[in-house]
Amino acid sequence: MTILVTGGAGYIGSHVVRLLEERGDGVVVVDDLSGGSPRRAGAAALVELDLAGPTAPEALATTMREHGVTEVVHFAAKKQVAESVARPTYYYRQNVGGLVNLLDAMHDAGVDRLVFSSSAAVYGDTREAQVDEDSPAVPVNPYGETKLVGEQLARAAAAAWGLRFVALRYFNVAGAGWPELADPGAANLVPLVMDRIDAGLRPLVFGDDYATPDGSCVRDYIHVLDLAEAHLAALRHVAVADRPAGHDVFNVGTGTGASVLEVVHAFTEVVGREIEPEVVGRRAGDPPRVVASTARATAELGWQARRGLDEIVRSAWEARHPVAG
Ligand code: WQD
Repeated sequence: MTILVTGGAGYIGSHVVRLLEERGDGVVVVDDLSGGSPRRAGAAALVELDLAGPTAPEALATTMREHGVTEVVHFAAKKQVAESVARPTYYYRQNVGGLVNLLDAMHDAGVDRLVFSSSAAVYGDTREAQVDEDSPAVPVNPYGETKLVGEQLARAAAAAWGLRFVALRYFNVAGAGWPELADPGAANLVPLVMDRIDAGLRPLVFGDDYATPDGSCVRDYIHVLDLAEAHLAALRHVAVADRPAGHDVFNVGTGTGASVLEVVHAFTEVVGREIEPEVVGRRAGDPPRVVASTARATAELGWQARRGLDEIVRSAWEARHPVAG
């Protein structure tokens, strides 16, 4: 059994590659190295390729045949919301175009199992205490749109030629399973808080006047290692033939919300002093609360997050600030 991991040199992908290698699976990584680095791919074979490029379908199908690929885990994509607003065609070309090429190659090479990286961004502005997979998916930015289109495209391939797929809708991923696999350049809350602390500045809180318990926005932060483990569960599940209709998408979160102020406060222990935040104005487009219902993943994937906010923050901090000795 060989698993092809697109984006396997990136942040989340490299964690999944590490877990697959630890359990002895054959792994081949396809990555354009635009955001990743070769050493993150570990001992896996590495094919440097832009999935959205014109030669990709043929090159991918050849790679699948040569390595005897049986399953694909597809991470390779662009993921910055603000950039997607500024460059929508680029996001559609890379994220949707890349998946189009991948599906053509899978069909061509006779590979019919796929785990697809989707996002909580497909939901847009949620209002529920916990958003479940049957909630309306109305993305509010091009990034989220490309992920929703990706799910629809995979579903169409399932109907057309029997693709078996599972889409995982990631909530707010952070932390590091291994220090060397930490997120290298993210523009999300946890790395930005660390940037500010390292620069001797107070972490910024975008708004404390939301209708939430402490006024700052609430999100569902999931440790990258819990997320990586969800992919192993999804690979098992993708082989299941009889699934309820529409049960091809799963939230991957913890079911517990944390506010921005709570995240900043969680750094106190690991940094060794109280971290004072600086409250500034709201960031455009932020929903007050986005927290996953994880009931479907628990029931059908047999997976549950095990690590909490303290472990997320500690692993992220220690990856950047190695403990001496
Ligand atoms: C979290 C909260 C900010 C920085 C996006 C995507 C989502 C997912 C993760 C996967 C917000 C606040 C941030 C700072 C702050 N990706 N914040 N000060 O916007 O919840 O989600 O990334 O696909 O789909 O939409 O993540 O980390 O940017 O922000 O107060 O310096 O932290 O306003 O409330 P977000 P984020």
